[in-house]
Amino acid sequence: MSKIVDAPPSPSLIGEQAFADWTAHVVHRTEHALTTILSSSWAEPPVMREAMRYATLGGGKRLRAMLCHAAGELVSAGPAALDAAACAIEMVHACSLVHDDLPALDNDELRRGRPTVHVKFGEALAILVGDGLQARAFEVLSDTPLSSAQRIELVRALAVASGPRGVAGGQAIDVLNTGSPLRLDELEYMHRMKTGALIRAAVFMGIHCGAVPPDRSILDAAEDYQRAVGLAMQVVDDILDVTSDADALGKTPGKDAQANKTTYVSIIGIESSHQFLRDLHQQALAALAPLSGRADRLRRLVDRIIYRKY
Ligand code: IPE
Ligand code: IPE
Ligand code: MG
Ligand code: MG
Ligand code: MG
Repeated sequence: MSKIVDAPPSPSLIGEQAFADWTAHVVHRTEHALTTILSSSWAEPPVMREAMRYATLGGGKRLRAMLCHAAGELVSAGPAALDAAACAIEMVHACSLVHDDLPALDNDELRRGRPTVHVKFGEALAILVGDGLQARAFEVLSDTPLSSAQRIELVRALAVASGPRGVAGGQAIDVLNTGSPLRLDELEYMHRMKTGALIRAAVFMGIHCGAVPPDRSILDAAEDYQRAVGLAMQVVDDILDVTSDADALGKTPGKDAQANKTTYVSIIGIESSHQFLRDLHQQALAALAPLSGRADRLRRLVDRIIYRKY
């Protein structure tokens, strides 16, 4: 990873310390809001709630929550709506991880440095935890303190991202092609669905929380930005599976090659994957160029996502 890790940070008016403080703040408020959402009363049997909390809390970089909050700044979105949107995205993301780790999919035993949900709670409960998290996410969105029209936009964005045109469809392509090589264009398509779609939702849901409707320049910038960052997210994941270790990753490395998955590394190699990430980095920044300092946190998040070590 040395070359991309050493790359200079994106031009931004926010200092590194101020950005680090902001990301810590988003992590904290997201964890707090998720704890509240997942503590509420209804869950019987109690082990269901315990497993949902285990799947969602106490780990995770919260990159999607950060994207949602940073995008919301473009449209002066309020904190309560952004918290709800960020939590809904993180719950759907957690659902996707629980299901991704199942024996029928990637059969992984380590996630966020701990045993996976099916290892700890059993396979049946892991399936139900995913179902529960996804449904709860949409319940949270329908209760968001926004206009009905905005709530429908949020629900629609997350539904598209998690359904057959997003995570579910991308994961289906993944499992159906494990062991049979994909072409680069097919791989890109799959990555955009299984991972990029939720990144897109994170950005646009932040924008849908706005106090004022977004203008065309914001929508265009967000579209190009999420396209670059969403693909980069999974390209980095492909690289880290080869270059990182279990302590840093919190998951078992080397699984993609072991399972015969097509990845950016398996098709174009590590060096070209790094170069591709540098291209995506430039594309993401170019997308934000027409926007003012309000996009500085989105700029910094490109670095956070692309130059991450886990
Ligand atoms: C892992 O996502 C799975 C992908 C879609 C790449 P993250 O790397 O964001 O996982 P957490 O939330 O930080 O654990
Ligand atoms: C992530 O792809 C796709 C999801 C939608 C969860 P991976 O299978 O590569 O993710 P990790 O490496 O297990 O986190
Ligand atoms: Mg997978
Ligand atoms: Mg996996
Ligand atoms: Mg992976």
